[in-house]
Amino acid sequence: MTVVSAPEAFNSDDLYIDLRTVFHRALYLKCEGVNFAGSIKLKPATEMVEAAEREGALKPGSVLVESSSGNLGVALSMIAASKGYRFVCVTDSRCNDTTKQLMAALGAEVHTVTTPAEEGGLLGARLEFIRRLCAADNRYVWLDQYANPNNWRAHYNSTAPAILREFPDLDVLFVGAGTTGTLMGCARYLRERHPGVRIVAVDTAGSVSFGRPAGRRMIPGLGMGMRPPLLDESYLDDVLIVEEADAIRTCHRLAHRGFLFGGSTGTVVTGAIRWLADRDEELTAVTIAPDFGERYIDTVYNQAWLDEHYPGAMLGVHPRLRPAPRRPVQRHIRALA
Ligand SMILES: Cc1ncc(COP(=O)(O)O)c(C=O)c1O
Repeated sequence: MTVVSAPEAFNSDDLYIDLRTVFHRALYLKCEGVNFAGSIKLKPATEMVEAAEREGALKPGSVLVESSSGNLGVALSMIAASKGYRFVCVTDSRCNDTTKQLMAALGAEVHTVTTPAEEGGLLGARLEFIRRLCAADNRYVWLDQYANPNNWRAHYNSTAPAILREFPDLDVLFVGAGTTGTLMGCARYLRERHPGVRIVAVDTAGSVSFGRPAGRRMIPGLGMGMRPPLLDESYLDDVLIVEEADAIRTCHRLAHRGFLFGGSTGTVVTGAIRWLADRDEELTAVTIAPDFGERYIDTVYNQAWLDEHYPGAMLGVHPRLRPAPRRPVQRHIRALA
């Protein structure tokens, strides 16, 4: 039995899906949505808030403010409610309505930026708004997930050790790149403890993180409109770029096996499956699902949204999907070894 008295006290770090039955490739998908915030962002949110409290920057009466496309905002809304802080989430027009409603339900104030800044687009406009807020009132505390080292430290301290505990023979880890907190925390830990593991970053087309041109991006979570301050490419073995339309197809394919995941999971799984298909090696490969699919029910899983933004992307049975092979239901990853 697990008993908690604060929502941030619970997180499951040991649920994996064996994707062989969906994609016919040995790839384990670590599910990070099993907590009250519903995403991997619980970890950096907790780490950043607790560090700010330790340093004395965050104290009773402080108002938390942060820029988020959704998941960090939800996690901070939850933690702020739990600890009794006010929280203002600054987001933009790409944030799902469902996510904004979740934040509001948790008591957060949501500010949506709609006009891109000349420098830095919508993200630039969000940051400008936060800087103005903090300059006008010193009760505001901006955690700044884009530059805060406690973002990557959260994954250095928990995500990477949890993966290595279950997969001591890990060969390759695929990680989606947003702020690159997950990527850099895992990469730093693995470089120190298990330097043979290949680290492959997966980004979305239209993101400028790895020096490519900016383009339209509709799926929140992955990709950036500026170079991520936390990113250090010297830790990476490879970088994969995935089109959003392909990520959406992968989401639908997973959904037709009963696994409903968010758009960024579709992106990393698409990249990982391609990378593995190009290699004729038996590898122990893991990737990370930052959240589940309910938050994308009005976008990635909505035919009207798809018709508007990705004409040709169809909900419905994937044409190449074969009936699922009859198999014993695996319950314990250790039983697979
Ligand atoms: C759904 C989703 N996927 C991926 C990421 C990227 O994680 P990171 O910021 O650690 O690079 C995020 C971060 O907000 C996210 O919300």
